[in-house]
Amino acid sequence: MKTENRSPIPQLISRRRFLQWSIGGLAALATLEAAGVTFLYLQSQAATTEFVGVVRAGVLDDFPPGSVTEFAGSGFYLIRAHDGGFLALCRRCPHLGCIVNWEHNTNAFYCPCHASHFDSLGNFQNPPVSRALDRFAVEIDGDEVLVDTSRLTRRQQFDPHELVYTSS
Ligand code: FES
Repeated sequence: MKTENRSPIPQLISRRRFLQWSIGGLAALATLEAAGVTFLYLQSQAATTEFVGVVRAGVLDDFPPGSVTEFAGSGFYLIRAHDGGFLALCRRCPHLGCIVNWEHNTNAFYCPCHASHFDSLGNFQNPPVSRALDRFAVEIDGDEVLVDTSRLTRRQQFDPHELVYTSS
């Protein structure tokens, strides 16, 4: 009668290898899953707005001094500064294009993707962003405020000359 004489050492090595492969495989799977979730999140946050041209935002009295009005479908925020000047800021974060949110309580724009903040004039406050929010051209026609979403200006920081005022 033939008996099998197995040494426990090869089994231990085999089990150890199996566990190492399993752990490695699970770690790789978890990494892939995290990357996939992150990609989907960033994609869902990325701006999909089409910038089509001139948007008739409203009349002057629609925007009280010190206000921020969101035009989500057109991809911008219209800011009316305390001195009455207008500024239209693009909602896309300059880092990777996520949509920034206006936070009334802190008086700042916040990017949900990597937690960068911008002040109410679009100046960046913390990394990873290293420049201000882009702006669109603003014109005032009579008592109407127009924002041209085909004219985007990339900028490093806010310049007071960017504010647009009524001629009267
Ligand atoms: S996309 Fe806004 S901070 Fe990264």
